[in-house]
Amino acid sequence: MLGLDTVRGIVTSAHLFEALPSRSTKELPVAELWNHCVSTAVMVRRIAWHVRASASVNRAAFTAALLHDVGKVVMNLAHGEAYAALRRRAETPQRPLWQEEERLFGHHHGTAGALLLELWGLPGIVVEAVALHHTPHRTREGSTTPLTLVHIANALVHLDNPGGAAETQLDFNYLQRLLLPGKLDLWQTALTAED
Ligand SMILES: [Fe+2]
Ligand SMILES: [Fe+2]
Repeated sequence: MLGLDTVRGIVTSAHLFEALPSRSTKELPVAELWNHCVSTAVMVRRIAWHVRASASVNRAAFTAALLHDVGKVVMNLAHGEAYAALRRRAETPQRPLWQEEERLFGHHHGTAGALLLELWGLPGIVVEAVALHHTPHRTREGSTTPLTLVHIANALVHLDNPGGAAETQLDFNYLQRLLLPGKLDLWQTALTAED
């Protein structure tokens, strides 16, 4: 059963998504994006349980997961047709979408989303998780944070979908730093078994 905190997080994040003047397009179907964010948040909850994350890390990670890709909506608004064209090309990618975004626009949807969330006054720990969800090695933190949970959850959800590897990959250098890779296989098995 969903707890009240969980419901509150989903309702708040859904409102934040809706606050953006974005129309759904073939290149960026907003409902699909929102479903992906909810799946990532559910996965965060499972991983948080497996790593015995504290209640505060769990809560911040859940919020960050719900909002982690909001920067795609921001980039769609900011770059219009150029961003739509990039997303069309990204269907047969040479490299992950975020790298293509960074190469073309000088920033990617993680940093764009984080800028928005900072403006909206979300806590720094949530903003960091969104900013670095594809590039967690750029953090200075050496412990398990909301960023860790969002990065792993997002990668597992994407990798579970056809073509998902094009979107993101697990950052094994970062996980190595936290000594998590050995546990990853165990979680992956446990998480899949829970489906
Ligand atoms: Fe992303
Ligand atoms: Fe994502």
